[in-house]
Amino acid sequence: MIEAEWWDYDDADEMAEAVAGDIGFIIESALDARGEALIAVPGGKTPLPIYEKLAQARLNWKKVTIIPTDDRLVPLSDEKSNVRAIAQAFLPTGARVFPITSDISDYKLAGNSANAKLADLKFPLDLAWLGVGSDGHTASIFPGPDLDEALNSPKGRHAVGVMPDPLPPEAPFARVTLTRSAILSARTVLITVTGEEKKALLEQAIEDGQSSKLPIGRVLAEAEQPIDIHWAA
Ligand code: 6PG
Repeated sequence: MIEAEWWDYDDADEMAEAVAGDIGFIIESALDARGEALIAVPGGKTPLPIYEKLAQARLNWKKVTIIPTDDRLVPLSDEKSNVRAIAQAFLPTGARVFPITSDISDYKLAGNSANAKLADLKFPLDLAWLGVGSDGHTASIFPGPDLDEALNSPKGRHAVGVMPDPLPPEAPFARVTLTRSAILSARTVLITVTGEEKKALLEQAIEDGQSSKLPIGRVLAEAEQPIDIHWAA
């Protein structure tokens, strides 16, 4: 049974303030314990105000490495690139920002390229921060031909290239994503969602667990740690 702890907020600003504080604390605890922090953050719109608040935190940012949980296979200069938004928000703090990769046009090769890059980072993550799509995807673990590979890749295979099917109309790209094992090996897994629809979807996915048809349910079903869920109306 997935152990989920929910925090509800009246609006996105209130959630941004609280979640930025929580993530700042996670980073500070990692720095105190190990002298460095490695966190993965989601793309999309929900995280943007949280990036902004978090980047204002007074931390030893030069010891913090930030990677996207997933990215679209587009040039780093493309406004649809997740790592582009992350770099804009966090490079000014002095943090290191690594692309999970976006230099491979062939999505099947993207996973290998990403694994090579990520192999230099000291997993496990201190934080895997996830968003959830209205189709139940998380990171870029989408319904489609690559779902099983993203869910069942062996430990140590941190990333896979995926081709969502159907392609999401707002971002119709091949992608690269952290795998379920990379996400669930994180010391903390935190989810941010907004709106009644996604709250209901996430509650149902958690209730269904392994039998969920939604990628988020399949990812969380194997969680051994409590999942922190922050929801803004
Ligand atoms: C992406 C994101 C994706 C996102 C969800 C939710 O590349 O599209 O990583 O997984 O987290 O789609 O996006 P919103 O928070 O904008 O609804």
